[in-house]
Amino acid sequence: MKSTTSGSEKKASRLSVPVITLDGPTASGKGTVAAQVAKRLGFHVLDSGLLYRVLALAARHHGVADTNEPALQVLAAHLDVQFPCDHAGETRVTLEGEEVSRTLRKEWVGMAASRVAVLPGVRVALLNRQRAFQELPGLVADGRDMGTIVFPEADLKIYITATADARAERRYRQLLEKGFSASLADLTEDIRQRDERDMQRSVAPLRAAADSVHIDTTLMNIPEVVDTVLSHVRQHVLLSRFLSTGSW
Ligand code: C5P
Repeated sequence: MKSTTSGSEKKASRLSVPVITLDGPTASGKGTVAAQVAKRLGFHVLDSGLLYRVLALAARHHGVADTNEPALQVLAAHLDVQFPCDHAGETRVTLEGEEVSRTLRKEWVGMAASRVAVLPGVRVALLNRQRAFQELPGLVADGRDMGTIVFPEADLKIYITATADARAERRYRQLLEKGFSASLADLTEDIRQRDERDMQRSVAPLRAAADSVHIDTTLMNIPEVVDTVLSHVRQHVLLSRFLSTGSW
């Protein structure tokens, strides 16, 4: 059946769904924090980096160069990707029917993702797919341009940072724990290159939204960051929604 909802009604209904954005550089811990904050609030979560990783992997599977913008744009618009949860509540990603969750976390996929992510056509092709995650009861969205481009009207925007050395060290420990081999020196170099590419690109560069709250996590652990974010949620989102609607 054809939907009779107009564009402006859709926009109005989207605006009534709370969104919290978490942007920041590679390995700043925002993915883990976003997942835990979403769980505590019972909200959906969007890991937007995963979409760029899936696209980079699909490009590899189809023999498309990560500089071929027209072909990548078509691939991005038709990505056959699913994000089902397994019994433990973990998101399992399937690309064209094949489970690729573990492959997506590899460093080369992250590097390839940051190369396809500089292409304007790719970013446009992935925009609506990301916005479709804004559903009740709310969304926590993590990435580089969540607060600046994808959800500029978010209720709360957080910008998470940590020094490059602290992030490389964390990524190193994570990879070892997951059974991957890794070199701390190589990871530090990768992180510096990805920071440079993400911050210098001309479209949707990584930068803090003017109205964002900054959290430097260099000396914090994950539960401390989660608590800090939740206290901002209580202060900025729940309270202001309560004051404007009279209900939580
Ligand atoms: O966050 P994650 O490391 O999974 O992202 C992989 C790459 O995708 C990043 O290095 C970045 O270049 C790109 N990305 C982006 N915009 C986003 C999320 C990720 O450009 N919103």
